[in-house]
Formats: sequence, structure tokens, C-alpha cells
Amino acid sequence: MKNIKLKVPATVANMVCGFDILDMAIHEPYDEMEIRLREDSDIIIKHTDPYGLPENALENVAGVVLLKMQEELQLKNGFEVIIHKNIKPGSGLGSSAASAAGAAFGANILLGNILSREEVVHFAMYGEELASGVRHADNIAPCIYGGITLVKSSDPVDIIPLSTPDLFVTAVHPQVEVKTSDARQILKKNVELKDAIQQWGNVAGLVTGILKNDFALIGRSLHDVIVEPVRSILIPGFDEVKTKSMEIGALGGGISGSGPSIFMLSEQEETARDIADMMKSVYDTLKIESFVYVSKINPQGIKTVQ
Ligand code: HSE
Repeated sequence: MKNIKLKVPATVANMVCGFDILDMAIHEPYDEMEIRLREDSDIIIKHTDPYGLPENALENVAGVVLLKMQEELQLKNGFEVIIHKNIKPGSGLGSSAASAAGAAFGANILLGNILSREEVVHFAMYGEELASGVRHADNIAPCIYGGITLVKSSDPVDIIPLSTPDLFVTAVHPQVEVKTSDARQILKKNVELKDAIQQWGNVAGLVTGILKNDFALIGRSLHDVIVEPVRSILIPGFDEVKTKSMEIGALGGGISGSGPSIFMLSEQEETARDIADMMKSVYDTLKIESFVYVSKINPQGIKTVQ
């Protein structure tokens, strides 16, 4: 096989209480990627989207992943990648992870599936390192494994695929800039024991709720006493969106990744769509352009397409 086309989904990192460890893939939005194995050793990156992302392989998230694969696997071939990005950069919906995961996943298929999923994650993390300065596997893991994943450790890579509860996700991306590096910088470096205890309870409750399909337990566990109180001030309308979502009937939700996107989980599609309408109207009132997505949790993650 010399050529592959991929549909690479957006992802919601942290899932409220699981900072850097709990993440899920969704169906919308998604990037389209085409990857071709080259006879020579060049790494060529092309973007067909309007975001002005760098195409020099050394500066491109997909490019560095492929350069590292070439180096560590001692490959003679190069790759050509065409990326059509629909996941807006800086949205908090895993835009850079999609390019990085898509590159590692697609290249591995073209090479005859020589890598384990953990090794694919290992290479994709080079892209996250370029994008945010941190080698983290959240966002990448659910892209590659699908569904909801627990990053038990990113060094060494130890990913635990959980399951895919039958829930709807509403995500809103308000057009304000929140850089991941800034959103990490403002976090407190120390956590009080009483807060850590609450957070452990919520993380354990959320994982149990996911594995047992216990939606009420999932709802009771979607609380973050450590990161959200600090980061939410960067997102206009956050409190209003959250309060109104709960009034409409969301199980719960919070900041998607480092923001500015906000996500909510609902049992019924109608609830998820009512929340989407409310989110849009909150940001219309604030005169902030926004994009809203409703989808289910995506059990498959990256998909090859014809
Ligand atoms: N877990 C990371 C954070 C995700 O919240 O900073 C950023 O993409």
C-alpha cells in the first residue's frame, strides 16, 4: 500500500476531573489526511485549510512525527502528507493531536503495521511536544484507541482503553484565544490534600461510572476542584454556559482540554441539541463568534477512508 486517507477526530481532554489523564474521541469536527509513501526520503507537508500552519516539516506537527519515525526506525522512505484541517487550531479540541496522531497512525499502516499502538502514541507525542512544549499523550490516546482512554502514564506509554458510554457530547468553541502554554502556566503548582482527596474521588467515580455505564455516577463525578476554578476565568461565558446546561439536563461537563471550548455530556440527543442552541445564544449575546458541535462519543477514533 502506497497511499492512505484518514478521518481523524477531535478529542476532549481532561474530561473535567482527569487533568492530563482522561480523554475521549468525538465524531465532529474531524480532519482529513492523505498520506503517501515516497520513493525518496523527503517529508512533504501540504495544508489545504485556511489556517496558515507551517508546512516546513521541522515546524509542522505531522512533519516532526514523521522525521522522528524516519530517524528512530531508520527508514529510507519519506512521506507526503496532505492535511485538510477542520478542527480549528487553538480550539481545545485536539487540533495538533489530530495531525500528530494521524501522521503516526497512517505512516504505520503504510509501513505494514510494524508498530504497536503504544509505539504509535510514542511517535505522535513528538507532535504534541512541538505544539505545546509538553510530551503529553492525552488527546492522542483517544484518537488512536477510540472511545475514552486513561493515560496511566505517558513515559513509559501506558494507555488503558475504557469504554464508550452511549452519551451525546455538545461542544462549543468560542472564538477567543487561550494558549495551552498560558493555560498551563497559570495553574497552581501545589495542591492541598483536601482538594486532592475530592479530585481522586471524582476521578475514581468517573472511571467506575464509565465502565459500569452508570450515567448518574458519571454526572456526580464531573467536578474539578483543582484546574477549572483557575482556568475558567480565561473563558468568557463559562459559568453561564455551565449553569444553563445543567438546567437543561446535562449530566455535567466543563472545559475541553485547555479551552476555550466547553463540552457537556447528555443522555438524550434532544438535550444535547437544546444545549447547543443555548451555547450559541450565550455567545451571540456576548458578541463572540462560536462554533457548536453535537456528536456521540466516537468508539473508533482514527478511521481509514476510501
Ligand atoms: N491536558 C492538557 C491540558 C490538554 O489541559 O493542558 C491540552 O491539550
